[in-house]
Amino acid sequence: MAPSIFDRLRLKGKVALVTGASSGLGHRFAEVLVEAGAAVAVAARRTDRLAGLTKAIEQDGGRAHAVALDVTDPARIPAAIAEIEAKLGPIDILVNNSGTVVSERFLEHAEPNWDKVIDTNLKGVFLVAQAVGKRMAGRGKGGSIVNIASTAATVANKGTISYNASKAGVVALTRSMAMELARYKIRVNAICPGYFVSEMTAPYLGTEAGKEYLARVPMRRAGQPEELDGLLLLLASDAGSFITGSCVVIDGGETLDRA
Ligand SMILES: NC(=O)c1ccc[n+]([C@@H]2O[C@H](COP(=O)([O-])OP(=O)(O)OC[C@H]3O[C@@H](n4cnc5c(N)ncnc54)[C@H](OP(=O)(O)O)[C@@H]3O)[C@@H](O)[C@H]2O)c1
Repeated sequence: MAPSIFDRLRLKGKVALVTGASSGLGHRFAEVLVEAGAAVAVAARRTDRLAGLTKAIEQDGGRAHAVALDVTDPARIPAAIAEIEAKLGPIDILVNNSGTVVSERFLEHAEPNWDKVIDTNLKGVFLVAQAVGKRMAGRGKGGSIVNIASTAATVANKGTISYNASKAGVVALTRSMAMELARYKIRVNAICPGYFVSEMTAPYLGTEAGKEYLARVPMRRAGQPEELDGLLLLLASDAGSFITGSCVVIDGGETLDRA
């Protein structure tokens, strides 16, 4: 008989890295990976927040390590990975979650803002995934990379032109990486969330326009970060052993009539 699905979802003995774990979805991803048994490296620029997260994880009996990482700084990435490996061991699971947005219409979008968004959301994924992917491939034990894209990859949201382009890039990157890395038993998938409650979305969701938007979502609300738990664990664990190159939308039906 095949091992139980509940056993295959467990991550005991695995090491995960979550970028952008200092708030929002990344913070939750770190918590659920620890709950499933993984040791988790949490990375971001705001290390004070990471320290609070690792303390809480350790108080609950989990293993975690905080690492300062700006994903737009290629020089910092090898040192951050070496630090994680020294503290927790080789990385089996990478969640590329760091992200940012600048709200400006296309004709007004300033080039430095374009660069900031593309460098963080797209080039940052490339840089971190390439560095971790090389380690996974060299080790020969496979791995799972989960890139956090967005429904903005496929629907034309107004006023977030560089964000939309960056997330479409993440989807393309995911599919191409999956093709090239399958031979190393490294699976690469993307999650495309719709609106979830976080620091990134709170300013918009709190406005009248945001509330009206949510009223048009079939489920009439934004998602809560923990509603991504199941999909993350499926993609990260052996339960998803034949899933690669997938980009899974999880949006309460928001884009059903637009995608
Ligand atoms: N919430 C949603 O509705 C939603 C929907 C679709 C997709 N997403 C995606 O989900 C991911 C998480 O977003 P969120 O909603 O949780 O937003 P958030 O609360 O603003 O979190 C963004 C995270 O990214 C990190 N980050 C930003 N720039 C960084 C950089 N240069 N280097 C390293 N880390 C950086 C931030 O940490 P520091 O500032 O401490 O570095 C923070 O931890 C993003 O990729 C976002 O595009 C979110």
